[in-house]
Amino acid sequence: MEFSFTTIALFLSSVLVLLLTKVILKVLPFGRRGLPLPPGTMGWPYVGETFQLYSQNPNVFFLSKQVRFGPIFKTHILGCPCVMISSPEAARFILVTKSHLFRPTYPDSKERMLGKQAIFFHQGEYHTQLRKLVLRALLPDALRNQVSDIEPIAIDCLRSMEGRVVNTFQEMKTFSFNVALLSIFGKDEVKYREDLNRCYYVLEKGYNSMPINLPGTLFRKSMAARKKIAGIVEKIILERRQMKLDHNDLLGSFMANATGLTDEQITDNVIGVIFAARDTTASVMTWIVKYLAENPSVLKAVTEEQEAVMKSKEGGGDKEKVMLTWADTKNMPLTSRVIQETLRVASVLSFIFREAVEDVEYEGFLIPKGWKVLPLFRIIHHSPENFPEPEKFDPSRFEVAPKPNTYLPFGNGVHSCPGNELAKLEILVLLHHLTTKYRWSLMGSQNGIQYSPFALPQNGLPIKLSLNMIDNFHQNGTTTRG
Ligand code: HEM
Repeated sequence: MEFSFTTIALFLSSVLVLLLTKVILKVLPFGRRGLPLPPGTMGWPYVGETFQLYSQNPNVFFLSKQVRFGPIFKTHILGCPCVMISSPEAARFILVTKSHLFRPTYPDSKERMLGKQAIFFHQGEYHTQLRKLVLRALLPDALRNQVSDIEPIAIDCLRSMEGRVVNTFQEMKTFSFNVALLSIFGKDEVKYREDLNRCYYVLEKGYNSMPINLPGTLFRKSMAARKKIAGIVEKIILERRQMKLDHNDLLGSFMANATGLTDEQITDNVIGVIFAARDTTASVMTWIVKYLAENPSVLKAVTEEQEAVMKSKEGGGDKEKVMLTWADTKNMPLTSRVIQETLRVASVLSFIFREAVEDVEYEGFLIPKGWKVLPLFRIIHHSPENFPEPEKFDPSRFEVAPKPNTYLPFGNGVHSCPGNELAKLEILVLLHHLTTKYRWSLMGSQNGIQYSPFALPQNGLPIKLSLNMIDNFHQNGTTTRG
């Protein structure tokens, strides 16, 4: 076949025009479709503004950008172009009304460690199926019978902290881990608790590591720990199949005949739920311990509410009657508002990641396909328009419901947290015993925040916890233990 000079020239010039258009579109503040990109700066080539974000409290970065560019702005972090949004309406657009256009996205190492089949990474039919199974085990109907099993875990946790200086976050991690195992495996699998705990400890160290699978790397060690956890889960699955018994815990829900989930899918989701449940709940508990210590009038009111619950239950020595019930936990309005306010002020998950699956127009701006989109929960929770005097810890603000889409500690839409009822329940149970039986003091300076990646008081909040001898003596005529 022969090509004339004109054909070749035409071909080359169209390639050139195409390339030039691509370059121009990247440089100009306009994207495909002729729509402008959101305002903002992209920083240096490749590194973008990663350094500016991570060299300080990330919220300072978000806030300064928001002040400069408004509630939707572009930036470039960790090698990815991003659009960050901080208005309740934009959060709703991304997480609810157009959620199918924004898929959840996580670093590759996290995806490999949790397991690619875990609920977080999926959209569509498979995600809907998993969500139903998770919710079946975590909705109030399923949880109401778990109060009596969560309570001994809370009592043991506090007892183990008595009289020592402890790292609150570490202790709360043990508590939320044990509650997570309870909701996944029920009471039967306590025998695997220690092994699972040990392996999970190694696994989590690799969550944010580079995915380099060489001897000695964090990633390699974590993957080996993951394999061990998978082995334990498979052993439990096998034992259950042999026993042919139905269980109404989360594993039972995943294993029900009709689900058709493979063992690998079940294991990925078991590890995923432990991941979702543990550090989130533990950091919220840690902040509550701090805020209560710093706000004596709130602590006094919570203690009085919890003592009233305790007194209403004095069962003449009948252990069953003094145990907390689901109904008791629904009778703790002030303590519940303390949890709500802590979730707002601390905003432990200060933002989440999505990725645009196609070009999307929002408010006249283009969000290009492949760009990351970050709803900034903390900025929304700390806007004076949504919450007057936002830095003030004031649980009474929740006597009135927040404005729509302004309160998102558990996210919103199809991926919103299915564990939120369990999280609130376990926190209430622990607070009941903490406030009625103990006193604590904060050790050392308490102003710093660390990101691990959840926002956390510096050094995990060292405290000294002691039995409240006076109150226990007056109430029981003798000293009692929590
Ligand atoms: C106070 C503690 C907790 C907080 C603040 C929290 C927060 C969140 C948030 C913001 C999301 C949405 C993530 C997104 O949209 O990308 C989420 C998802 C999720 N959470 Fe929680 N969570 C907590 C406790 C729990 C607990 C106790 C469990 C389980 C026992 C749990 C299980 C999950 C699961 C499975 C998802 C993924 C849902 C999906 O993709 O459909 N969480 N959580």
